[in-house]
Amino acid sequence: MKNILVAKGGGRPKGNTAQIVSSFAEGASSAGHTVEVIDLNKQEVNGCLGCNACRFGKPCIQKDAFNGISPKILQADCLVFASPLYYWTISSKLKAFIERFYCLAIEDADPPLGRYESYPVHDSALLMTAADDFFWTFNQAASYYQFALVNYIGFKDRGMYLAGGCGDTNGKPCIADTDHLAGAFTFGANLYK
Ligand SMILES: Cc1cc2nc3c(=O)[nH]c(=O)nc-3n(C[C@H](O)[C@H](O)[C@H](O)COP(=O)(O)O)c2cc1C
Repeated sequence: MKNILVAKGGGRPKGNTAQIVSSFAEGASSAGHTVEVIDLNKQEVNGCLGCNACRFGKPCIQKDAFNGISPKILQADCLVFASPLYYWTISSKLKAFIERFYCLAIEDADPPLGRYESYPVHDSALLMTAADDFFWTFNQAASYYQFALVNYIGFKDRGMYLAGGCGDTNGKPCIADTDHLAGAFTFGANLYK
């Protein structure tokens, strides 16, 4: 059984993203996994300052919630990145969280082409919601996940659940009117099948 950590990058307290994360967590729990959700609306994590102190063996100079979260990242079998789609990509809160992986990097004497370091990470998945539901709606976000998190940082991808068509013109959360909550439950239940 796996230890799953969900980083929820924003979204409204009872919005589409909160609901899809709950359904995913219920599904994963039903399969016997342990799930913890970190709400980046409540635990503030700032973006990287690029000071490079961590490249000289020093801890991150920023004293925010990331310091408490990083041991959980290192212990997790799977880190799930969850976000509403904002202007065709992940939320700034989730992006800031990802930038802080910079201070988790380990020197790699023989990195593969295009990579300069290695990271102590395991599996990952992407969970997103959006108002629109075009065939290209999630292209930029999925591409970022693939390039930055899987190809570069080195997470082993367990899949993406991308829930389009969850909004209306005045922004009311509509995910309960779709089949995405059931889909996310199944995605969580089958993550390691
Ligand atoms: C700032 C902002 C930007 C958004 N950008 C997009 C977008 O580019 N494409 C889209 O389909 N929906 C967009 N939406 C709609 C949200 O992605 C969608 O309603 C999402 O499910 C909201 O999540 P929540 O209910 O958890 O807050 C945007 C909403 C906001 C507030």
